[in-house]
This record gives sequence, C-alpha cells and structure tokens, in this order.
Amino acid sequence: MRLQSDSAPVNDTLLRAARGRVVSHTPVWMMRQAGRYLPEYRKLREGTTFFETCRNPDLVAEISIQPLERFPLDAVIVFSDILVVPQAMGMEVLMVKGRGPVFPDPLRTTEDLGRLLAPDVEETLGYVFEGLRRTRTGLNGRVPLIGFAGAPWTLMAYMIEGGGSKSFDKARAWLYAQPAAADRLLAAITEVLVEYLDHQVRAGAQFLQVFDSWAGMLGPRAFERFALPHLRVIASELGRRHPDIPLAVFARGAHHALEGLSKAGYDVISIDWTLDPALARQRVGPDITIQGNLDPAVLYGSPKSIREAVGVMLQGFGGERHIANLGHGMLPDHDPEHAAVFVEAVHELSRQA
Ligand code: CP3
Repeated sequence: MRLQSDSAPVNDTLLRAARGRVVSHTPVWMMRQAGRYLPEYRKLREGTTFFETCRNPDLVAEISIQPLERFPLDAVIVFSDILVVPQAMGMEVLMVKGRGPVFPDPLRTTEDLGRLLAPDVEETLGYVFEGLRRTRTGLNGRVPLIGFAGAPWTLMAYMIEGGGSKSFDKARAWLYAQPAAADRLLAAITEVLVEYLDHQVRAGAQFLQVFDSWAGMLGPRAFERFALPHLRVIASELGRRHPDIPLAVFARGAHHALEGLSKAGYDVISIDWTLDPALARQRVGPDITIQGNLDPAVLYGSPKSIREAVGVMLQGFGGERHIANLGHGMLPDHDPEHAAVFVEAVHELSRQA
C-alpha cells in the first residue's frame, strides 16, 4: 500500500530542483539536521539509547520534524541511522558515547559471512517504515520527506572494521586478499538495500539518498571495481520500481568518482566542501542536480561571514540544478541560530539572484 503518494507536497521545491525544473529559490536542507546541536533533540533522547530511539516511531517522527519547527527547510530527512541495515543482517551494533558506532563482533574471516542473515526487510526494519509513515503524517504535506541508506561499500567498511577508523585498513584489505568474498558481501548488502529503499518509498519517502561516507577511502580503480557497480544496481532497481522518486548519492571524499557517478543513474550528486562547485558542474554535465556543499565549519563563523560564504557558494553553482546543503553533517556544538542564518541566507540570496 502506498501512503499519501498522490498528494503532492505543498512545498515541492526540492523535488523540482532534483528534476531540473524551474524553482523560485534554491531549496535547502542539512545533513544531520536532526541531532545533538538541538536542545530539544537532546531532551527527547534523555534516558534512551540511540538505537532505542530509532526503534520508536513516535520519537522518530517528532525528532525528524524538530528542525522544521525551527527553520524554513525545504525537506525533512527521517531520523534513523545507516547501521540499522547491518543490525538487520544479524550484527550487533552499539552507539558508544564519545566513540560512535561499535560492532563488538565484526566480520573477521570469510567464514564469518555465514553468520549474516538474508533478512525479511518488513519484519526486521518495519520500525523504520512505521517511523516514515508517522513522519509523513506529521509533516502533512509541508515539505518532502527524505529516506536514506548507507552505500554497500560504507556498510561493508563498518561491518569489517567494527567501527569508525582513520583509514579502514581491515576493510580495504578484504578487497585485495579475498575479492570474491568481498563481492559476495557487497552483493548481499545491495540486495537488502534495494528492498529496504523500496519499502521506504512505499512507507512515504519522496526522495532517497545513499550515503557512501567512506568512498574517499578507495582509490579510483577500487571505487570502480567494488563501489560503483553496486551503486548502479541500487539506482537501476529503484529507478525501475519508483521512476518518480529522485535518487541522490553522497560519495564523500571521492573526487575521482564524479564522472562515474554521473552515469550511474542518480538524479542528484551530493558533494563535500573540498570540491569546487563550478568544476564539479563541468565534470558531471548539465543533466544532474548537484547538492552541497558549504563547509560545516563555516557555521562557527559570524552570521555575516556565513551569509558571505553562502553567497559565494550560490554563485559557484550558478543557480541551476542546485540543492543547497552542507558538505557534511551538522556538528554537536553548532549553534542552532547559525543554522538558521544558513537556511535563510540560501533562500534570500537565491531569490535575489
Ligand atoms: O538528521 C539526519 O541527518 C538524519 C539522521 C541520520 C543519523 N545518521 C542520525 C545520527 C543520518 C542520515 C545518519 C547517517 C549516518 N550514520 C552516516 C552517513 C552520513 C555521514 O555522516 O557521513 C554515517 C556514516 C552514520 C554512522 C554513524 N552514526 C556515526 C559515525 C555516528 C557517530 C558520530 C556522532 O556524531 O556521534 C552515528 C550516530 C548518530 N547518527 C547520531 C545521530 C543524530 C548521534 C548519536 C546520538 O545522538 O546519540
């Protein structure tokens, strides 16, 4: 059953920009817009663990909508985490304060692949879909709802490394020491992701983003060999099942991947702040929407300097096929007032242009 898929959102600027249609202003949202920099998020999270919160659909809806109550954003992203997929595949994942995600029992040898489950997505991740339904209801058409998942390589990297890492050496070692096992693992993750994202759309997601946060750990050849083919499968499967839903991909740090990604079937490519917008545009061509890419550190500056940086960014993108965002997520000690300056500056300056 598709929920509310017939009722177009009142503010569909994000969806129009993703499709390259004319917009009255540049749409804007922020990665990690729901999170610890918001006191109302910290308050709701009190007394529950991170993944308990993810499994509570009422809390998910409330947290997802919190940033929209403060800022005139053009989209809401559902509150969840990319690591719920490894959990559904049978791995334990903890969120440890001050350390981030920890897998107590990561994949060490190829035999460990036998521990992984081919999950029934509805059964194991139904709580995410219920969270999406309630968020969509709570939004009541104000702005589109974004669903998301981690990319196969990024999830594999966590499942082998057991947590964050400076260089993901253990995960990269698999690519060369046991490439056939790496292929099997990546294909198994991809299969789950296709079903997972498909169900997100059926639960109300109107735009999907795939986060390849550790794409930058791979060289150009390894990215083409191990990451890109699976990203292509995701885009073609979702595109076939839901041709109206824009697909975005964020391959952080993977400068070399832009051309390949622009031919992988995505409508939107999200870039980090280390890429120049005008050069990125030249490299992906005119038919892709680019999303990004203000350095999140700019939000530590004064309101005046934030507005200036937004102006430079908008000029770099040239006003066409652009969705404004940060080049990575909001940070826990960001001032919400400065996020407001960012959002309002994007709207004001793009309307003037
Ligand atoms: O507002 C949103 O963007 C939606 C929610 C969201 C979260 N995680 C909530 C979260 C999204 C889209 C993610 C994606 C995610 N999770 C990524 C890809 C994007 C990126 O940042 O590159 C990755 C790599 C993860 C894995 C993950 N989850 C890490 C590394 C951490 C710890 C880092 C930290 O900030 O502590 C998390 C925890 C996490 N996910 C938090 C939030 C709000 C903070 C934990 C908390 O509030 O207790």
